[in-house]
Amino acid sequence: MTDGDKDKRRFLLAATTTVGAVGFGFAVWPFLASLKPSARTQAAGAPVEVDIGKLEDGQRLIVEWRGKPVWIVKRTKQMLADFETLAPKLRDIKSDESIQPDYAKNINRSIKPEYLVVVGICTHLGCSPSYVKTTDTHDLGESWKGGFFCPCHGSFFDLAGHVYSGVPAPTNLVVPPHTYLSDTRIVIGIDPQSGAV
Ligand code: FES
Repeated sequence: MTDGDKDKRRFLLAATTTVGAVGFGFAVWPFLASLKPSARTQAAGAPVEVDIGKLEDGQRLIVEWRGKPVWIVKRTKQMLADFETLAPKLRDIKSDESIQPDYAKNINRSIKPEYLVVVGICTHLGCSPSYVKTTDTHDLGESWKGGFFCPCHGSFFDLAGHVYSGVPAPTNLVVPPHTYLSDTRIVIGIDPQSGAV
């Protein structure tokens, strides 16, 4: 690690609030109150450091950042390969109309292909969609590749947060600024290049 890297890590750690992991798998809103940052910290929008070392393939971790749920999903190679085949069904495959940092404006909508990091709020009217795996019991058809379903008005998103065509949600799920401290630690709310919060 260079001196520059060490300085960056020191800065990121100093600026980071409590580890924000609040649940795996099907844990849903609301969050566990005992693990929430203080109201003052939340209001200030402090970054949240998360340990992703125990995430398993297909598993979702939910953390809170700025009062919003942020989902971190570990994707398999097959899940990543599915984005290309799903492309004709997706409204904004290039994410031109959607909100994400430049470093996540790619087919996987992520820094590291295996990890999706998105704000878990539907881009239609703000409901929190459900995570529906292919292995879950569902009536979304045999071609369902896994992703997120918003029951409020019936919007679908794939495992990169790409919105399907023909549903009420207008854009892909939002990717928040985030950066990696190491292979197993991530910070939500900090830009990796500038360190800006
Ligand atoms: S809020 Fe999600 S479809 Fe309307």
